[in-house]
Amino acid sequence: MNGILLALLIYVMVWRPRRCLCDEGEDLPTVASQVQYGVRSQRDLMGNVTIDQVPMVGVNVYDTLFKSGRNNESRALMSVMELMQHGVQSFVIDLEQRSNQLILRKSNVSFDKFLNVLQSYVNNSDNNLSANMMVLLLRISTEMVTKKTNQSSPAGSGYNSSSQSVNMTYLLDQNLGRQRIYTPDDLENDRELGQTYNTNGTSKVGWPTLSSFLYQTKRRVVLAELTETSNKAYMPYVFNGSSIMNFDLNNATLGLPQTINQIKALSEKSWRYLEASFTPADIKVYMDYGYNPIIANEYAADNFASISELLNTTLMWSWEPNEPYSRTTDRNTLKHNLVAYNCAVLHYTALNSSAAWIVDNCYTKHRGLCRNKGNGYLWRTTVSYDTYFEFSESKCPNGFEFSLPKTPLEQLAVSQYLANISSEDTNLWIDMNSVYVNDCWVTGGPHATCPYQRAVSKRNFVKMITPVTVCSFVILIIVCYLNFVRVPIHNNRKSWKRIVNEVSKWEVDGVPS
Ligand SMILES: *[C@@H]1O[C@H](CO)[C@@H](O)[C@H](O)[C@H]1NC(C)=O
Ligand SMILES: *[C@@H]1O[C@H](CO)[C@@H](O)[C@H](O)[C@H]1NC(C)=O
Ligand SMILES: *[C@@H]1O[C@H](CO)[C@@H](O)[C@H](O)[C@H]1NC(C)=O
Ligand SMILES: *[C@@H]1O[C@H](CO)[C@@H](O)[C@H](O)[C@H]1NC(C)=O
Ligand SMILES: *[C@@H]1O[C@H](CO)[C@@H](O)[C@H](O)[C@H]1NC(C)=O
Ligand SMILES: *[C@@H]1O[C@H](CO)[C@@H](O)[C@H](O)[C@H]1NC(C)=O
Ligand SMILES: *[C@@H]1O[C@H](CO)[C@@H](O)[C@H](O)[C@H]1NC(C)=O
Ligand SMILES: *[C@@H]1O[C@H](CO)[C@@H](O)[C@H](O)[C@H]1NC(C)=O
Ligand SMILES: *[C@@H]1O[C@H](CO)[C@@H](O)[C@H](O)[C@H]1NC(C)=O
Ligand SMILES: *[C@@H]1O[C@H](CO)[C@@H](O)[C@H](O)[C@H]1NC(C)=O
Ligand SMILES: *[C@@H]1O[C@H](CO)[C@@H](O)[C@H](O)[C@H]1NC(C)=O
Ligand SMILES: *[C@@H]1O[C@H](CO)[C@@H](O)[C@H](O)[C@H]1NC(C)=O
Repeated sequence: MNGILLALLIYVMVWRPRRCLCDEGEDLPTVASQVQYGVRSQRDLMGNVTIDQVPMVGVNVYDTLFKSGRNNESRALMSVMELMQHGVQSFVIDLEQRSNQLILRKSNVSFDKFLNVLQSYVNNSDNNLSANMMVLLLRISTEMVTKKTNQSSPAGSGYNSSSQSVNMTYLLDQNLGRQRIYTPDDLENDRELGQTYNTNGTSKVGWPTLSSFLYQTKRRVVLAELTETSNKAYMPYVFNGSSIMNFDLNNATLGLPQTINQIKALSEKSWRYLEASFTPADIKVYMDYGYNPIIANEYAADNFASISELLNTTLMWSWEPNEPYSRTTDRNTLKHNLVAYNCAVLHYTALNSSAAWIVDNCYTKHRGLCRNKGNGYLWRTTVSYDTYFEFSESKCPNGFEFSLPKTPLEQLAVSQYLANISSEDTNLWIDMNSVYVNDCWVTGGPHATCPYQRAVSKRNFVKMITPVTVCSFVILIIVCYLNFVRVPIHNNRKSWKRIVNEVSKWEVDGVPS
């Protein structure tokens, strides 16, 4: 018996997550592991949210990276890679055509190279742990930056020299891969199969859910062209942005919703983007009011890291900053049986009627948050105060179920409801816990399992040792040890480090200007 436990101990020690070694050479501070857990929990709880409603943070590549006249272009591409790793999911890319090539505006970086960086990121995050949707919003300058040339493009390069226009389909096939791209044809197909939804349910004008996009169609990237005069030639892979999106520049033309009806009306608009120069305070407000911010602030090369001020407040719309904080390593928790910081509450602050989630002890008694079964913008609280484990649907009012806000707009509806009933500061249980595996935050009640479980979980282990009556010293040690072990569900940062280094070594081809 002891032998088995010892083997287990060694197994667990081998699996023990290693700390990130170094940050030198990186622009942005390393993502804290709890932020990774929080961002992942957001993605997972949004599995049933349609892709046009998934909140995301974006960056305008020209404004943030090239406007101030950066000249180290491999460095700029590295920054793009870092932004993706930090959770930036959309990029506005201004392109100009130069010598039959698409070049990122005011730079010498070809669009091919940019797509290679994206492909590299997509390839390396192509697993259930890290996969997420990426959106590229293209603005292709119609007037070519012409330089009269009479040399034909190299054979097979895909650029049609006689017509002087780039074959976008070929470019994407070569540098990103058809199987990664969710095309207008895929949408057509999903709509015919009845797999698209909007706020009213199944709909022929809706969009697929995030989980169907990632795990059934197995796509990663949506491309759209934003200029008014969308070129039909780009169409096979690229959506016509002006027909599917609400893209605002500088002013939020759809307004900031103040009532439940306004929130619902806003949620019926697809793909709500707002590109502007933000402050840390206002970017958070727009995110909370249902817009996807596109950061168009200008950064000098040596100042780029300060973009994380804007990312800090927006990458997580759900959890409070520095949550979900893992309190299980606290030695005191071992002294008491009824302490388990594995459950989440929605913390409401009456002063500014704002809501965000924090970790709490599952054995504390709180009221719970219930969502109307037919309308995600109608919320109630339970009357009774219960521990997380005593909670069941029957505690909710008729027609309501124990749930949690799944988008910023649903969260906004919760705080407006609480403001309407003049609630004071309060904590409400929501359907989000890590009871099964520490740091693996899941929805679906206290018995929900962790989809990423790779090592011995606390729960399995407890089951295993219960029949053993003799409590040997070894078991004691192991039990204590397991309390400090986290399941290694976070990304392998070392491998990311390697990818960033690879990108940094790429030679950026001199592009004739
Ligand atoms: C999505 O909806 C289905 C059916 O309503 C449900 O079984 C599933 O648990 C939901 N998934 C998530 C992540 O909420
Ligand atoms: C560009 O940045 C990379 C990575 O920081 C560095 O290795 C390289 O020397 C820089 N190149 C120039 C020309 O400054
Ligand atoms: C692009 O490269 C050319 C020569 O290789 C150089 O003269 C020009 O300044 C570069 N442009 C930018 C924006 O870096
Ligand atoms: C990404 O994966 C595809 C095949 O899955 C491969 O052809 C391509 O070279 C990879 N690209 C990068 C940049 O790793
Ligand atoms: C990834 O998730 C999907 C959907 O949840 C599931 O069907 C699939 O089996 C998972 N893949 C792996 C390798 O776990
Ligand atoms: C084409 O290029 C050659 C030299 O490369 C030059 O002599 C000729 O004038 C060019 N023709 C035109 C039409 O630009
Ligand atoms: C280039 O464009 C011309 C006319 O637009 C067309 O006839 C020709 O087939 C194209 N060549 C290639 C290689 O696509
Ligand atoms: C563009 O490239 C694709 C293959 O990648 C090819 O099927 C298509 O005919 C090309 N279009 C033009 C106009 O050359
Ligand atoms: C793109 O959509 C806009 C608005 O719906 C429309 O006016 C335009 O003609 C479309 N462009 C193409 C190429 O279909
Ligand atoms: C946009 O906002 C600015 C101030 O932020 C205002 O001066 C301007 O009139 C607004 N434009 C429109 C079209 O609403
Ligand atoms: C949903 O239904 C309501 C009334 O039934 C209608 O007013 C609204 O336009 C519909 N929304 C969408 C996005 O179809
Ligand atoms: C972002 O948040 C992290 C963790 O809270 C903090 O270490 C970092 O200094 C913040 N960055 C900025 C620019 O505020």
